[in-house]
Amino acid sequence: MTARIIGTGRAVPAEIITNDDLSRIVETNDEWISSRTGIRQRRIAKEETTAGLAAEAARKALEQSGKAPEEIQLVIVATCSSDYFFPNTACLVAKELGIRHAAGFDLSAACTGFLYAMNTAQAYMAAGMYENALIIGVETISKLVDWKDRSTCVLFGDGAGAAVLEAADTGFIGMVQHSDGEKADVLTCRTREMNNLLVSGDPALDYIKMEGQEVFKFAVKKVPECVEELLEKTGVSKEEIRYYILHQANSRIISSVAKRLKVEEDRFPMNVNLYGNTSAASIPILLDEMNRDGKLQKGDKLLLSGFGAGLTWGAALVEW
Ligand code: UT7
Repeated sequence: MTARIIGTGRAVPAEIITNDDLSRIVETNDEWISSRTGIRQRRIAKEETTAGLAAEAARKALEQSGKAPEEIQLVIVATCSSDYFFPNTACLVAKELGIRHAAGFDLSAACTGFLYAMNTAQAYMAAGMYENALIIGVETISKLVDWKDRSTCVLFGDGAGAAVLEAADTGFIGMVQHSDGEKADVLTCRTREMNNLLVSGDPALDYIKMEGQEVFKFAVKKVPECVEELLEKTGVSKEEIRYYILHQANSRIISSVAKRLKVEEDRFPMNVNLYGNTSAASIPILLDEMNRDGKLQKGDKLLLSGFGAGLTWGAALVEW
């Protein structure tokens, strides 16, 4: 038994912030941002919350899947920007949508989170534990960004993407996932320091810190490696893959991966220009756009690959 995707959805905040808008708050400009990253604008949450965006994306995915909320057995939310330490976002989504009988938990694997969530859900189904799952990648990462740091604040955006999986004979073909804590320091966002009756730490929250070039080098090396690893493992050739749906961090990373794999770039769809890097939400937002734009045909093989803080990375191969 494996799992197939039977519905997708997405939700993004209403407010659009352009590169020109950012050039008024930090020393940057549209030319630098768009030529180095491909990003032209991003959505930034104002009224929207992590749970609210997640629920909206999930509602659309459920509608498309034809599943009623009370039928859902498992909810996994991938996020690193939840509204609360607890309860988890999965329970808040369940509350909002009327999902009453599901196991629910959040999963933290930064920009690789949605991929880890999908792999986890399908493993539960392969083991016969659940017949369906709602998986969501969501971030209001703008609240973790230091808006005085031009090297990071121009990169990120908020949003959510969701998918409903159902146990089936075909669909999910295989996956690989990895992590390596050796380079944990190159992309971080710490929580509060310890500040209790024994220790007087600084109770201030930290912001995202990134060594951009280190992350760039890691991505362009590890993503092609894990794509090759997955193709080898599943016996599927590069040519059989209709689309390579990669985490949308930077168009130069995606172009470079295409080049290294010797695959035409038009099989690497991109929307980083519209949303920036939405971390765990980027893969499901793009998947939903392609689905709703009618770009995916039954039987298409899609290779999804994510990479990010941890460092974490991985890939999954699914048949549409
Ligand atoms: O989601 C997964 C995690 N994230 C990623 O995948 C991001 C991976 N890394 C990257 O995408 C790229 O490294 C960045 C887009 C973050 C940076 O691009 P880069 O080509 O590596 O630039 P850089 O960090 O080497 O900076 C080049 C110059 C520096 O100035 P000097 O030292 O050459 O005078 C920076 O200070 O660009 C400057 N700079 C900026 N200038 C204008 C850095 N940020 C900005 C900015 N506007 N926003």
